[in-house]
Amino acid sequence: MSEQSADSARPTIIDLPKGKHAPGVAPVRATGTAPAFLSVHDIHAYYGESYIVQGVSFDVREGEIVALLGRNGAGKTSTLRTIARLADPAMTHGEIWLDHHPLHTMKAHEAARMGVALVPEDRRIIPGLSVEENLKLAQIAPPLGWSLERLYELFPRLGERRKQEGVTLSGGEQQMLAVARALSRDVNLLLLDEPYEGLAPVIVHEIERTLEEIKALGMTTIIVEQNAIAALHLADRAIILDMGQIVFQGSAQEVLDNEELRNEYLAV
Ligand SMILES: Nc1ncnc2c1ncn2[C@@H]1O[C@H](COP(=O)(O)OP(=O)(O)OP(=O)(O)O)[C@@H](O)[C@H]1O
Ligand SMILES: [Mg+2]
Repeated sequence: MSEQSADSARPTIIDLPKGKHAPGVAPVRATGTAPAFLSVHDIHAYYGESYIVQGVSFDVREGEIVALLGRNGAGKTSTLRTIARLADPAMTHGEIWLDHHPLHTMKAHEAARMGVALVPEDRRIIPGLSVEENLKLAQIAPPLGWSLERLYELFPRLGERRKQEGVTLSGGEQQMLAVARALSRDVNLLLLDEPYEGLAPVIVHEIERTLEEIKALGMTTIIVEQNAIAALHLADRAIILDMGQIVFQGSAQEVLDNEELRNEYLAV
């Protein structure tokens, strides 16, 4: 990339494909010093013949929260699924390194063992099992993460409802259970796909507070959200996807401050 911004002090990491520039944002090279904990390099992925993830590259430092944003169909879920090494979409090119381990050579169960935890949009609470049984099932094989006691401390509502069938929880409580289930494994990289989806603002605030607590523990996290403002308040950095390609990388504050950018690429 030959273009350089005059504002080289701005700590923006960007790798825009030619001709794809976010409005008002010039591409700037990384100036960071800490090595990346997660390094996603030029990944390409397909559902069958459909070319969806089109050369996505970004780094995440340890303990950082990155908001992965973009309109419906931009490729956010597909990017998370590729990082978690699910079979679909199929990754045909690129590298993904997590703490020096080559995720791109791994299948989903191996990535999970490396501590990659994807909390999917539909939450996947297992029917017929209580809250506690859902959590215990996740803890059936090592490496184990948080104990039940610690999870119930973080999510008191789950503790109160430990005997209740998981699928009868409210939407917000099911989201808490989905996050708790992820933490019950030894997580190095938390991938949250629309954790606030369909939830009332008061419940969004409750989950936000919990995610702040998890953030304070230094959990490296990628959060995908339609509720971009909420995600940007939690995140350190933001990446905006459009049609399977990155159109912006920068600080969360830059996106909050750039209305033009939000209007063009986000539904806010
Ligand atoms: N299983 C699939 N088979 C074929 N195409 C798919 C499949 N899943 C997603 N796609 C397509 O891939 C593109 C990106 O979808 P993706 O789910 O990654 O978008 P997204 O950014 O997460 O959108 P949303 O905000 O609506 O969740 C879309 O055009 C979608 O139709
Ligand atoms: Mg999605």
